[in-house]
Amino acid sequence: MRYNRAAAILGRLADIGCLADRAGSRFNTGRRSRSGPNGLLFLMKIIVTGATGFLGRHVLPVLRKTYGEGIVGLSRREYDLTDPLAVRAMFRDQKPEVMVHLAAYVGGIAANCRYAADFFYRNALLTALAFEGAREAGIRKLIYPMGGCSYPAGASSPIRETQMWDGYPQLESAAYSIAKKTGLVASQAYRQQYGLNSVVLVPGNMYGEYDNFDLEQSHVIPATIRRIFEAALSGASEVYVWGSGTPIRDFVYVGDVAETIPFFIDYYNSSEPVNISSGTATSIRELAVTIAEIVGFHGNIVFDTSKPDGQRTKTFDVERMRRLGLSAPTSLHQGLAKTIAWFARNYGDRSDGLRLSGSAVA
Ligand SMILES: NC(=O)c1ccc[n+]([C@@H]2O[C@H](COP(=O)([O-])OP(=O)(O)OC[C@H]3O[C@@H](n4cnc5c(N)ncnc54)[C@H](OP(=O)(O)O)[C@@H]3O)[C@@H](O)[C@H]2O)c1
Repeated sequence: MRYNRAAAILGRLADIGCLADRAGSRFNTGRRSRSGPNGLLFLMKIIVTGATGFLGRHVLPVLRKTYGEGIVGLSRREYDLTDPLAVRAMFRDQKPEVMVHLAAYVGGIAANCRYAADFFYRNALLTALAFEGAREAGIRKLIYPMGGCSYPAGASSPIRETQMWDGYPQLESAAYSIAKKTGLVASQAYRQQYGLNSVVLVPGNMYGEYDNFDLEQSHVIPATIRRIFEAALSGASEVYVWGSGTPIRDFVYVGDVAETIPFFIDYYNSSEPVNISSGTATSIRELAVTIAEIVGFHGNIVFDTSKPDGQRTKTFDVERMRRLGLSAPTSLHQGLAKTIAWFARNYGDRSDGLRLSGSAVA
């Protein structure tokens, strides 16, 4: 019965043309030059840390398609970048000229509350050691993402980059987000003192293939996909979704974020952060209904109002990104369909790195 239902969900997704679309095959490098403005970057050695993670698995194929197959993807298995000696070894062995530094400890609210000190300590080290190592090695460009949760809890939406220092971030994830935010201070400080060329990106609420679907670790989209998918699979008549459903969020498909990275490698030379998001407002209710529609779940969606909602509205101003000629063109429906197709394809045998359990803080 369970497998018949799984087959039915996969059948629906095939009907709407999602199953053929694997991440990594969709990337269109479009208008960007493969060589960069000075004709040299094509030959540059580029490394991506955190390449086995959610964002890394989208960034690596984009960079390989843009600059060639020589891009090196690294994970904790090769170098534990909280260890200064391993950081030195990485720069010595790899001799990168460009470093896309995605290595981080990332998790949902529950994990952030339970392991607040670990999130702070490890992300602070991953940030400080990378900037110092990049400076010592004299690399040409460092790309560093931090989260939209680093903005002040009271920032008014759509949140502009200029609001970054107007207040303290949301308490539940402040240890993580302040550790990540030190990257912005580092970017400015290392540029000022050493001329290190680094760029700080602020992706919104990313979702997509390779996200973390462990309910303790996950953000709202993977958690809601999993709940609704499992409800459909078990034939449940209702499914619970955290909170009232009324909060408004700004979601961005991770593949769209990945597509912007070559622009920042080739053309952007400033420590002024740039929001990378869709700039569209979606309620959690609308999100849940869209997921249910794609999955084919026809039961009741019950909003569990005993659970906190968090901020009422959180969207990002994407004017700076647009002025750079960048966009996040994947609609929420398209992005969710791709994500759910990938999730459904890998759910049965937990293949392709699907994360359903296990802790981010090992
Ligand atoms: N996820 C989001 O919604 C979001 C939003 C905004 C910004 N960001 C930022 O985007 C970046 C990537 O996030 P993500 O969601 O892709 O994270 P993720 O899926 O949890 O992946 C984390 C990556 O970092 C590596 N890593 C962790 N600890 C390491 C260590 N000590 N040494 C070396 N590598 C280590 C992991 O390697 P192993 O696989 O070997 O452990 C993995 O490849 C982070 O900087 C994050 O702050 C994420």
